Amino acid sequence: MILLQGILKMEAKKIKKIAVLGAGVIGNSWTANFIWKGYPVNLWLFSSDEEITAKQAIQEHLDGLAINGIVKNDQIPKMMKLVNFITSLEFAVKDVQLIIEAIIEDLAIKQQFLAEIDKYANPDTIYASSTSYKLISDISKFSEFSERCIGAHPYNPPHLIPLVEITIPEGERGSEKTAEVAAKFFESINKVPIILKKDVSGFIGNQIQSAVGTACGELIMNGVCTPEDIDKAMTFGPGLRWAIVGPYLVGQLGGGEGGIKGLTLHIGKANLEDPTEQAIKELEFYANFIQGEVNKEMANRSREFGSDNETLRKFRDKVLITLLKEHKKI
Ligand SMILES: NC(=O)c1ccc[n+]([C@@H]2O[C@H](COP(=O)([O-])OP(=O)(O)OC[C@H]3O[C@@H](n4cnc5c(N)ncnc54)[C@H](O)[C@@H]3O)[C@@H](O)[C@H]2O)c1
Repeated sequence: MILLQGILKMEAKKIKKIAVLGAGVIGNSWTANFIWKGYPVNLWLFSSDEEITAKQAIQEHLDGLAINGIVKNDQIPKMMKLVNFITSLEFAVKDVQLIIEAIIEDLAIKQQFLAEIDKYANPDTIYASSTSYKLISDISKFSEFSERCIGAHPYNPPHLIPLVEITIPEGERGSEKTAEVAAKFFESINKVPIILKKDVSGFIGNQIQSAVGTACGELIMNGVCTPEDIDKAMTFGPGLRWAIVGPYLVGQLGGGEGGIKGLTLHIGKANLEDPTEQAIKELEFYANFIQGEVNKEMANRSREFGSDNETLRKFRDKVLITLLKEHKKI
């Protein structure tokens, strides 16, 4: 109950200092992101030897931002001073409002680690695990303070990829409020958080990537193409479009005037193995449902990013041409 009261008082704007636990690929990139946005970070190192490589990686991430005109070179030393490299877990977590865990992907280690953190962190501090495939319900299983725990899955490199997928421990052990506060914080630094309705392994993106991986493996092993062909196909085909709008808005544009409903009926009917009356009815039901969902999605978008067929097409073409210029394919 003490914890719940603490978490209920937590607000995104109260997050002033962050602990990043783990100075590997993800921890270093998260750290670069937070210091770029002005937040002091306690970066916890598993071993003090990691300080040199972590410093170098963070510096390289910030240099990359400067080379591309996002920050100024002379701002970087000030940002680097915001990182406190630290090997004491107690001191890493005791004075922060958000903990980003980015240690090795091992359930037992993550569970023990969290039990240790329970001893030192304030009860209203949010604990966000970067886990790729473990459930936050399992990671927080032995925690006294599971309501402050969320999965907050980034994509490499987190300082550039906006998506953060948030999961909540199942049932009463989790708190939607914690997820909402974290989402608000991530939005404030220009991330795109999504709170999942269920705690699932692989979140959304990794489940999709796994399905793509399976399809790619089959194509290669069936002698259809090489890995290089697949990389080319994705880079210069579907990947280009998915970098701009997702598969549902691609479908909306692909259907022309008929939208995604028209596309689903057209392609669906042509490919029905057994076009019974029932199968056609089910297809029509799905096409209507998906069109309704896409209409809601477009209504949530601003005109700048495309909120109807015409503005969406214009936005797609603008970003597509920008990407093609970088690929020197236009
Ligand atoms: N690499 C990715 O593309 C990616 C993307 C999203 C999420 N993640 C997740 O982020 C987390 C970190 O992944 P990473 O790719 O940065 O791994 P990494 O191997 O680069 O870093 C892991 C860190 O954990 C530390 N570590 C090792 N053993 C430990 C122990 N017993 N206790 C505490 N710390 C220990 C290491 O010193 C290292 O700093 C994982 O949960 C992973 O699933 C990775």
